[in-house]
Amino acid sequence: MDFQDKVVLITGAAGGIGLAAARKFAAQGAKLALVDLNQETLAQAAASLDGALLLAANVAKEDDVKYYVAKTVAAFGRIDVFVNNAGINGDFKNIEDQTIENYRKVLDINVIGVAMGLKYVVAQMKAQGGGAIVNTASNGGLLGAPGMSAYVASKHAVIGINKSVALEVAANGIRVNAVCPSGVDTQMMRSIETNAMAGHEEEARKRFEAAVPLGRYAEADEIAELMLFLASEKASFITGAYYRIDGGGGAVSV
Ligand SMILES: NC(=O)c1ccc[n+]([C@@H]2O[C@H](COP(=O)([O-])OP(=O)(O)OC[C@H]3O[C@@H](n4cnc5c(N)ncnc54)[C@H](O)[C@@H]3O)[C@@H](O)[C@H]2O)c1
Repeated sequence: MDFQDKVVLITGAAGGIGLAAARKFAAQGAKLALVDLNQETLAQAAASLDGALLLAANVAKEDDVKYYVAKTVAAFGRIDVFVNNAGINGDFKNIEDQTIENYRKVLDINVIGVAMGLKYVVAQMKAQGGGAIVNTASNGGLLGAPGMSAYVASKHAVIGINKSVALEVAANGIRVNAVCPSGVDTQMMRSIETNAMAGHEEEARKRFEAAVPLGRYAEADEIAELMLFLASEKASFITGAYYRIDGGGGAVSV
């Protein structure tokens, strides 16, 4: 896949999946604009990615979204690929113990953050005549999970936004697709293991992995490969789609 001199904007780029994608796009010649909450953390994560534009921004704040899009366009002139990936898992509790604060925080970042990213990137892609977008949903966008209703709601919403926006922009040469991973071996799974069984994280990991037909978490690189495919010309007839990448889990449960 050739991304030579393509401008690739990635949110959540200091995290496991975002950084894996950044490395793979860079290896194919892309120019990177990387967004995450904290400039220092981002700089550490992206230390090996020469020439990447590093942008500290909170995807849930509209002004921050305007800022990261404007800075990317000012630096590189366009946005060819947008990996709309930043997200959090929030607190896991059954519904009667959920708080309005947790629900609002998860929905703010995972839904409003994704929608605002699309709003401003789509405007730029329309003006330049096309582009490709990959939204990071989750198998939680397709399935239920006890204790995870806020996260699951947010990822179902991402799939709904993905489908709707894909239809809005299909005539503009913009493709919009989503990936739906099950557990990926990143910081987010560490947080989920603690949420599930605080003090017994290794046991939680074993149980989660045992539930996957392939018997393990995904590597972030495996998710990044699907993102690159969907962003590439090889996926030229794919839009409004969402792809399970779950070691077979969806085949059992759906
Ligand atoms: N790890 C998994 O098991 C898994 C499974 C399915 C889907 N996902 C999704 O993949 C995406 C990436 O997750 P990951 O596994 O790389 O986790 P991660 O925690 O390693 O990375 C997430 C990154 O997003 C950043 N971020 C969080 N809130 C932000 C905000 N408001 N503004 C800007 N950046 C913010 C974090 O700082 C972090 O660097 C998320 O949307 C997550 O929901 C992860």
